[in-house]
Amino acid sequence: MLDGKTIVVEADSTALAAKAAALFCRAAGASIARQGFFAAALCGGSTPRTLHRLFSAEPCRSDRLWMRTHLWWVDERMVPEDHPESNYGAAKEAFLKMVSIPADHVHPMPVSVTPEAGAHQYQEELKRFFDSHKRKRPVFDLILLGVGEEGHIASLFPGSSSLDERDEWVVSVKGGDPDLFRLTLTLPVLNQARHILFMVSGTRKAAAVKMIFQETDIVMPVHRIQPAKGSVTWLLDREAASLLS
Ligand code: 6PG
Repeated sequence: MLDGKTIVVEADSTALAAKAAALFCRAAGASIARQGFFAAALCGGSTPRTLHRLFSAEPCRSDRLWMRTHLWWVDERMVPEDHPESNYGAAKEAFLKMVSIPADHVHPMPVSVTPEAGAHQYQEELKRFFDSHKRKRPVFDLILLGVGEEGHIASLFPGSSSLDERDEWVVSVKGGDPDLFRLTLTLPVLNQARHILFMVSGTRKAAAVKMIFQETDIVMPVHRIQPAKGSVTWLLDREAASLLS
């Protein structure tokens, strides 16, 4: 444990994804037992791809938890779902078509409108969902996050004014690699989560991981993840953790 965070180092990206799948299913089971549903937000990028494949295979594939699961996205690139850079498109192809999640439980971010309209529409959809579950605030049961090499999370990039957003739940930004218009959940939403699960894999993330945990004079967007009541688990593989002393 590190100031309220749990850090787990797995041997490699495959073991990391297996651990993430186990934690996802555990969180789903607990949420469904407690409140009758499970609200999760998925991050994009390449790291979750192995996890998506595990979702599409047994035992996850036919798990009944999908019937009570609502999937949202942490962020999305403003491209059509069949575009290779679409976070929703990647998830749809990898597992959404295989698991028994009701269609109206899958909430992709709107990408066929302007970025501003997409942010507003998604925020309204979130409000309807959480209102219907008697929650004034968007409290996700689980949010999956990756970390960029320069410490961004979601599509909240270093120096962006979106990092200081305190009222809106969803904003549109432009940036990242590729440099695209994106929609992203904001820190007030991310920090409401009951549980945040970071997945960080590979040598190219080792320097960022070292800065996150051991360079106290460097502040990056990822350091702004400080859930009020929720817990944080860091899933690293050995390569990503290789510069930690
Ligand atoms: C996105 C992601 C982004 C991602 C990190 C890590 O849409 O790009 O949400 O925040 O998690 O950039 O990406 P990789 O997993 O590809 O390294």
